[in-house]
Amino acid sequence: MSESPVSVVILAAGLGTRMRSRQAKVLHRAGGASLLEHVIEASKGVAPADRIVAVIGHQAERVRAEVAHHGIGFELQTEQKGTGHALSVCAHFPGLATGRLVVVCGDSPLLQAETLQHLVHLHRESGCAATVLTTFLDNPHGYGRIIRDESGLVAGIVEEKAATGQQKQIREINSAMYCFEAALLWPQLARLTPNPASGEIYLTDVIGLLRAAGHMTAACVVDEPGEVLGINTRVDLAEVDAIFRRRKARELMLAGVTIERPETVSIDKQVTVGQDTIIGPFTQILGQTRIGAECRIGAGSILERARLADGVQILPYSLITDSSLEAGAHVGPFAKLRLNSVVEAGAHVGNFVELKNTTLGAGSKAMHLAYLGDSTIGKQTNIGAGTITCNYDGVKKHRTNIGDGSFIGSNSTLVAPVEVGPGAYVAAGSVITDAVPEDALALGRARQVLKASWARQRREKSGK
Ligand code: UD1
Ligand code: CA
Repeated sequence: MSESPVSVVILAAGLGTRMRSRQAKVLHRAGGASLLEHVIEASKGVAPADRIVAVIGHQAERVRAEVAHHGIGFELQTEQKGTGHALSVCAHFPGLATGRLVVVCGDSPLLQAETLQHLVHLHRESGCAATVLTTFLDNPHGYGRIIRDESGLVAGIVEEKAATGQQKQIREINSAMYCFEAALLWPQLARLTPNPASGEIYLTDVIGLLRAAGHMTAACVVDEPGEVLGINTRVDLAEVDAIFRRRKARELMLAGVTIERPETVSIDKQVTVGQDTIIGPFTQILGQTRIGAECRIGAGSILERARLADGVQILPYSLITDSSLEAGAHVGPFAKLRLNSVVEAGAHVGNFVELKNTTLGAGSKAMHLAYLGDSTIGKQTNIGAGTITCNYDGVKKHRTNIGDGSFIGSNSTLVAPVEVGPGAYVAAGSVITDAVPEDALALGRARQVLKASWARQRREKSGK
């Protein structure tokens, strides 16, 4: 019996009216993941992905697309007719007929795998037909109340609207998460009828039905109410996000990362950071970003899906997206790197320099005010201030190739497609439209004209 498999149903079809959003509630994000993803991860603590089913309804296709990579199953509840109805749409999902069925809500992102493991364990030990995950609240208003019998088992759940004055005094509330004996649950679930007042089919009523059928139902109390109380408003969302950010910062600090003013920093859960890296205030480190050891992330920088090797220095207010920085690279302040840019070992990117889909070779420097797009730049080059690659002709993007050891003078305009050979030299202010061969000098600008004493003569003429 104790070997019977565990499945999880995640109720996630509701819109979440109090979010005041066009987006389904479970798609809102906290700590770098959607609410539903957090719940899926907790669910994986008790069941393999192929035994986890999400009941989806509002924006079903978007919700499915967002979490499909977790490998879970989906059932569609086209009309939201209540929590009991939501569970019933899973009745024929393969494998759910027997074993243990855990039901959780998709809007409770703080739920921990350990709590579900404890719920399943307690349920197993008690031999009950259902175990309700409950918690005690100082202000239980709005929640379903747990009615206990003389022996301490759960006799039923009463929703706020149906509760008597005395029942409203009960501080133990239903989290809307449960563990059921599947074989006992389904026949009773099929007998649920709509609540006469709301017309919804309440899953909570199944507890009373199980009891009436002669089964025992118990409670598993969670000490920390925050873990099981779902998100209802964007205020709740912000609070939960802050909890995730604190947790992540703490985890990194305990693992040897210095975070200055951690309360100002947002680091997504998937991010990894090496030892002795220093993260400055007001930074955001997002998505699948991996940071090596002994790096420095300057204040106000935003890194998204960035890969930093060891010893990389990011000076303040740099934006780095989908790009890689090799060992000892220096970037910023105020740099922007995006779309598969690579800064190779020891290369420097300075202030107001943008790299898009560009590789800057090892030891090369682009220190000031440049746009380098769709370019491959060799090693040990110097890209002068104000250099622009004209990569777009209004129709197509074109590439610029710059060879090793070349020198691009300040304010050069490189009209792509164009090549500058290794060791070549481009004079400042040039507009380069044709290939520059290896070791050549290219001058692409008007020759300077000098008119001796012209300025003095003009002053004398005008009398100024
Ligand atoms: C439910 C419980 C209540 C409990 C409270 C805890 C019932 C009848 N009541 O009330 O005892 O104290 O949760 O938060 O179950 N959902 C669907 N399809 C539906 C309806 C709901 O998928 O047709 C999903 C929602 O998206 C949500 C979850 O079920 O994730 C809970 O539904 P909600 O409407 O929030 O239930 P409450 O009224 O809060
Ligand atoms: Ca709710």
